Amino acid sequence: MSRTRTQIVIVGAGPAGLLLGQLLHREGIDAVILERRSHEYVLGRIRAGVLEQGTVDVLDLAGVSARLHKEALVHEGVGIGFQGRRHRIALKQLVGKSVTVYGQTEITRDLMEARAANGAASVYEAEDVTLHDWQGTSPRVTYRKGGVTHEIACDFVAGCDGYHGVCRASVPADKCKVFEREYPFGWLGVLADVPPPWKELVYANSARGFALASLRSPTRVRCYVQCPLDDRVEDWSDTRFWDEFRRRIGEDVAAGVVSAPSIEKSIAPLRSFVVEPLRFGRLFLAGDAAHIVPPTGAKGLNLAVSDVFYLYEALRDHYRERREAPLDEYSPRCLRRIWKAERFSWWMTRQLHLFPGDAFARRMQETELEYLFESPAAQASMAENYVGLPFESAAAGAQAHVA
Ligand code: APR
Ligand code: PHB
Repeated sequence: MSRTRTQIVIVGAGPAGLLLGQLLHREGIDAVILERRSHEYVLGRIRAGVLEQGTVDVLDLAGVSARLHKEALVHEGVGIGFQGRRHRIALKQLVGKSVTVYGQTEITRDLMEARAANGAASVYEAEDVTLHDWQGTSPRVTYRKGGVTHEIACDFVAGCDGYHGVCRASVPADKCKVFEREYPFGWLGVLADVPPPWKELVYANSARGFALASLRSPTRVRCYVQCPLDDRVEDWSDTRFWDEFRRRIGEDVAAGVVSAPSIEKSIAPLRSFVVEPLRFGRLFLAGDAAHIVPPTGAKGLNLAVSDVFYLYEALRDHYRERREAPLDEYSPRCLRRIWKAERFSWWMTRQLHLFPGDAFARRMQETELEYLFESPAAQASMAENYVGLPFESAAAGAQAHVA
């Protein structure tokens, strides 16, 4: 067995793990990233791409936003389709902020390139990652690579290994509280290389179910339709997808839709999930390892970034000031922001999807959408959540923790 030591072992090379590694590297804090999959596999995953201003600010701070500022699209509004009409929520006008469209895949690529350029340690295809003594003062992480077992001693473990990872699974059930909501439908998503006929995202609530018109670039669209959970991708030819998409997205948008061949097609279930707390001794959870939001609010990646920013600040202040308080504050500080994003994502999901067999809920939905379209106050509330609620400063967090 080989034995080494570092300050932080980061489990998972998704956006959370890579971004934490980058921020810690710039602060001179050593970290090793252990990733179960290959570099290519991680880079190949298709995920969302709507960024809050706060997320762009953290990517700026991490020094990995040069390409983003060249290639990303900035949207000052978002469309909501309902009963054949489209209503624009003027984000910039209402709350002075916009959203940035830049694929999670591109962010992952930028972070991987920065880490390679830094020469910082990452182990891909690390098997059987196992945590030891994270409840004590000398945590260790073991893994196997190339038939050899390796052990890394460290000060802290950052669990950035997603919903199905080993870190949260290592915590005994009686040490944490789980909050969960499963939705009775999924999203069928299609990626296609065709210029988007829409200039801003359009979320549509139609009598046939939800649809979303999104994009990755001026030449690539990303579109979704609500589908039954037991549907299989094979049930959906490209033709069937585009026909259904046109029937839901609204006539004006539908007129410009081209039935392009899909380059990726997948079905994802919708879930709301939060674990409390996010810290267990020397183990800190961040990103999808701690929470899942339904994608309707475009909060998944943004929430992972705010966790990671808070964890970076907690570890930075701990090492600079040799204090425990910043570490104690991490979990409550994250949870205050996580629950607000969970609430918004749940609200968007409830407003925009077809829930089977609940006539009263349907009336509530229709009435709440009509109120949204008539009320600037309601639009401003939706807008401030969609563009991203402000980050809590470390000082405010400490104050809230004391209070
Ligand atoms: N050992 C090592 N690595 C692991 C293990 C394990 N046992 N289990 C999972 N991983 C890796 C996965 O292979 C993945 O690359 O951890 C990484 C977790 O990355 P993500 O799932 O992308 O999670 P996160 O970085 O928190 O990013 C959250 O991803 O799913 C989207 O909507 C979500 O946008 C959000 C973002
Ligand atoms: C996407 O572009 O994939 C996307 C955009 C907005 C969402 C969800 C997904 O709310």
